[in-house]
Amino acid sequence: MALSFEGRVVLVTGAGGGLGREYALAFAERGASVVVNDLGGNAKGGGKSSAAADKVVEEIRAKGGKAVANYDSVEDGEKLIQSALKEFGRIDVVVNNAGILRDRSFARTSDLDWDLIHRIHLRGSFLVTRAAWDHMKKQKFGRIIMTTSAAGIYGNFGQSNYSAAKLGLLGLANTLAIEGSKHNIYCNTIAPVAGSRLTETVMPPDLVASLKPEYVAPLVLWLCHEQCQENGGLFEVGAGWVGKLRWERSQGQIMRQKSRPMTPEAVRDQWDKICDFTDATKPTTIQESLQAFVSVLSRVDAGGQVEAPPSAAAAAT
Ligand code: NAI
Repeated sequence: MALSFEGRVVLVTGAGGGLGREYALAFAERGASVVVNDLGGNAKGGGKSSAAADKVVEEIRAKGGKAVANYDSVEDGEKLIQSALKEFGRIDVVVNNAGILRDRSFARTSDLDWDLIHRIHLRGSFLVTRAAWDHMKKQKFGRIIMTTSAAGIYGNFGQSNYSAAKLGLLGLANTLAIEGSKHNIYCNTIAPVAGSRLTETVMPPDLVASLKPEYVAPLVLWLCHEQCQENGGLFEVGAGWVGKLRWERSQGQIMRQKSRPMTPEAVRDQWDKICDFTDATKPTTIQESLQAFVSVLSRVDAGGQVEAPPSAAAAAT
């Protein structure tokens, strides 16, 4: 059965172009009422205009869909959610997508380059999502998307500000997934790749043309559907491909004994073992992560074999 969003109210931030526009069109096509938010400024965060959001709203309405424009910055998170409530009476889905770039090598990154990127990407997503949170809690339904980037996951030359803010969004999503789950509010993170005005300065033109936003949008729709039970996931998506990411932890090495303290030399000497991912575990919760430490404490205390990995870590595979 086709996935319908009939009766759902969806806010897409930064929906006046690029990926956000595609999400807005796709949600509307499947029956959602869409708030098309866009400040309409330039790619570096300057200026503003209603034209970008208006154009997408027109496109949606021309196809018989339901949409309204909102021109506030994501820094005014409350106003975006008020738009949804005023026009459509509820808020079911928030896609945090708005973004800008201010790329500079680290040494040349100014306070403003750092702050603006954090304000729009990280603080903006926080403010918009917090404004929606209680409404989602009351109705016992909510789906939230955070947009991270490969630059955050892997690092990228000239993007220290952007990488930090983008990976901050993953940390935010990890906790929202935990706090929201009992209220049927799920939060997932995507790292998209698509040709847009943000990527046209770094990708060759043929790649910008080939990597279409429509090869990303279907994942966002699925993650925001009531049937989808995924929560706290991280996905790379682009070119029509979707993959999931997770953390891996090496078996590690205990470097002290009851009667012998831990030293930098011991760390140096065991470095290869510390970094050896053979039989790596994949912890998914903070409890699972902590378990290994507690197990190490008792192993060392018992004066047992110190070279072996903690059993809790092994059990968590
Ligand atoms: P885009 O520049 O086409 O779209 C971003 C939109 O956000 C623009 O329409 C812009 O006007 C709007 N916007 C900027 N600041 C705003 C604010 N304060 N309030 C409201 N709207 C604002 O760029 P694209 O590529 O579609 O990016 C969408 C998201 O995906 C961004 O968060 C970006 O960082 C992320 N991303 C994109 C990648 C790509 O390959 N295109 C790669 C990794 C992440």
